[in-house]
Amino acid sequence: MNVLLLGSGGREHALAWKLAQSPLMGAFFAVPGNPGIAEHATCFENIPLTDHDAIVALCGAEKIDLVVVGPEAPLVDGIADRLIAEGIPVFGPRQVAAQLEGSKLFTKELCKAHDIPTAAFGRFDDREQARAFVRRQGAPIVLKADGLMAGKGVIVALTLEEALDGVDEVFDMGGIGTEILIEEFLEGEEVSFFCLVDGETVLPFGSAQDHKRAFDGDEGPNTGGMGAYSPAPVFTAELERRTLHEIIRPTARALADADSPYRGVLFAGLMLTQQGPKLIEYNVRFGDPECQVLMLRLDGDLLPLLHAVATGQLENQDIALKPEAAITVVLAARGYPGAYEKGSRIAGIGAAESIPGAKVFHAGTKRSGSDIVANGGRVLNVTAIGANVAEARERAYDAAARIDWPEGFYRTDIAWRALGAEPT
Ligand code: AMP
Ligand code: GLY
Repeated sequence: MNVLLLGSGGREHALAWKLAQSPLMGAFFAVPGNPGIAEHATCFENIPLTDHDAIVALCGAEKIDLVVVGPEAPLVDGIADRLIAEGIPVFGPRQVAAQLEGSKLFTKELCKAHDIPTAAFGRFDDREQARAFVRRQGAPIVLKADGLMAGKGVIVALTLEEALDGVDEVFDMGGIGTEILIEEFLEGEEVSFFCLVDGETVLPFGSAQDHKRAFDGDEGPNTGGMGAYSPAPVFTAELERRTLHEIIRPTARALADADSPYRGVLFAGLMLTQQGPKLIEYNVRFGDPECQVLMLRLDGDLLPLLHAVATGQLENQDIALKPEAAITVVLAARGYPGAYEKGSRIAGIGAAESIPGAKVFHAGTKRSGSDIVANGGRVLNVTAIGANVAEARERAYDAAARIDWPEGFYRTDIAWRALGAEPT
């Protein structure tokens, strides 16, 4: 099977690494790829993900049998619709279904119409009405701009004053014509849950938790994610069963019934509240860096699973995960998520990977002559699998210590929650 992978981050390197192990793999290509992905696939680094014509042309020229879409933006832009129109199977939903991530309002209305547990909400296009609603509800309260905001666009206001200022902030972020969402504040532990969906069949792909804040102790600014681990010990088999029954399957059913079946990985951000799991948000792709830990745990071949999603044949498949735990530590450029320098040299990746169970994924790197240099904010994902979270964590940190990159930093407390929950 000839495969084209779209994307250039650590998530896509993890997908490429796993896909390349498949005995079914034929020729393997990536757009635009990165130096880690280039170890497995031929990369077309000059084709931007926004150039759908060039991607379709490449599929024709290389006789691609499956396109795997890593990030959300091309899906929200309709790449799956374009490829399907050309008869090319694609892992990733069409534009209508990608609204699950592209439009928070779409998701909230879908939840409301189908009794899917989520935070109560109001929607406003008028600042004064939004402020009046905030005054009536009081704090804490959550404000959100609609649309793809790359993790921004959400304010969790703990005081009434913060909430009232936040109304202006969110309207300003969204620009003209913005609608904002004002949500009930949910209390509990957050967990990420991943399922493959082929329109009808839903197969759970496991849980994970990530760390969004930049610094130890969950301090500092929000980031794309500084580390993750899988499984999430709080997400018991019973909670998974409830989530499938109350949230994931009703969502898949609603979309299928509306003639916009969801095909791809459905990533549910959940809050485990006193009343049970509630949906915070959906994403239409694997999490980054959650994908990295899931790929280490996946037992067996990824390629037939993704192909079955693309072709509606998931009922004949099953997903087996190793019972072990995996963790990933993000090495970021100093200054991230603010301003940072690019171009510093990174050494020691081979030494890091000599630790048993360890694998280093490239997230934001570039090749410069024979060197690997930093080329982004989140630069490497040092990932490891072990018998339990404690062992996986020790291996990941031993590996991270072997990376020679003075211009980088990482959190030293990834998986602290899981360690507390693990029997010692
Ligand atoms: P989102 O972009 O919707 O995932 O929101 C970003 C983060 O804000 C989430 O990961 C939660 O930590 C927090 N958040 C979002 N909605 C709520 C809510 N209704 N109650 C409490 N926290 C929330
Ligand atoms: N790590 C969170 C995300 O991928 O959205």
